[in-house]
Amino acid sequence: MSVITCVAPVNIAVIKYWGKRNEELILPLNDSISATLNVEYMRAKTTVMASPTFKENKIWLNGKEESFENPRLQHCMKELKQRARKNTDVVNWNIHVCSENNFPTAAGLASSAAGYACFVYAIAQLYGVEGDITAIARRGSGSACRSIYGGWVQWHVGKSDDGSDSFATQIAGVSHWPEMRILTLVVNSSRKKCSSTDGMRRSIATSSLLKYRVDHVVKDRVEGIIRAIKEKDFKAFAEITMKDSNQFHAICSDTYPPLSYVNEVSRRIIELIHAYNELRGTTKVAYTFDAGPNACLYLLEEDVPEVVALIQYVFPSDTERVEYFKGLPINPGSLSDELKVKIDIPKQKPGSIKYIIYTDVGEGARVLNDDNEHLLNDCGNPK
Ligand code: DP6
Repeated sequence: MSVITCVAPVNIAVIKYWGKRNEELILPLNDSISATLNVEYMRAKTTVMASPTFKENKIWLNGKEESFENPRLQHCMKELKQRARKNTDVVNWNIHVCSENNFPTAAGLASSAAGYACFVYAIAQLYGVEGDITAIARRGSGSACRSIYGGWVQWHVGKSDDGSDSFATQIAGVSHWPEMRILTLVVNSSRKKCSSTDGMRRSIATSSLLKYRVDHVVKDRVEGIIRAIKEKDFKAFAEITMKDSNQFHAICSDTYPPLSYVNEVSRRIIELIHAYNELRGTTKVAYTFDAGPNACLYLLEEDVPEVVALIQYVFPSDTERVEYFKGLPINPGSLSDELKVKIDIPKQKPGSIKYIIYTDVGEGARVLNDDNEHLLNDCGNPK
């Protein structure tokens, strides 16, 4: 019997991946760039156990048994086996996999990226796979390839038809921009969204703005944001981040029938951030939205107390609910009356933002060396 437990982080794109040039291989239409979030506060954790006595492959996700026949899972397994170090018995044994997130899946936060990155990383360790594994994680979910590494990560579009040059690399390490912080505002939403996979398929088929973006916009943005990250130029970084998020959601509107991931609360957040930046006379905060209404704000540590106080003022918590702040400790600053008056955005219904996760940039996937961390018992069943 052989067992391993790993964790992998969530990543939040600042240049978005939207659209595939090859569905089967999950090859993107353009480069994308993200920051990896601290694994402490938002992560997937996965235990993989291989044993000659297991009758079949099994997988449990967040407490529920799922089918191992899922084609994306199968593609990852096939590539991992092909790349396994030779003469390893383990490769021929069946496996049991148990995976869970430490943040609510219902929050709709990049869970497949962390999940597939963790799955591929753990099995790669078990099979002794050497070299790049981001292209294998990509077969699970495109954005998962960016969750293998920590810090700032670029997923390269690649040119070849077999996908061999479409992998992720690190632009800068975790400690490169230590002041950078991320606030995830979990927005209350009852609407069921269209999955990224289905949404991007529909955009490719119908949106001419998507084609324009790929042909004329992304290249300059990628160069610009890499420069901004390397030079720690927050203003340039923030502006590209917001513009790219807005363009992604414009493509969603341009899709037919349209996709609408952001809601009224998201639009209020956008308005608030622009009003705040305007008042401060410079770009202090950037927002970005994925395929859902939750906002991710990038900002520097020194601005967190005031920005959090402002968010709390405009979007008061519903005290019946769970704690408002999760993640790193937060001490909201006090808001000046002047700011309250000048910001001129009406207070929203309590509970419009369910809670805030405060975090920083973190390391990539890694092995947990403590046996107590395993999610499977010695018989290979969830604990
Ligand atoms: C909006 O990686 O979830 O979050 O490759 O079909 O699994 P599949 O899609 P997925 O798409 C993520 C889209 C996004 C933007 C991004 O993370 O770059």
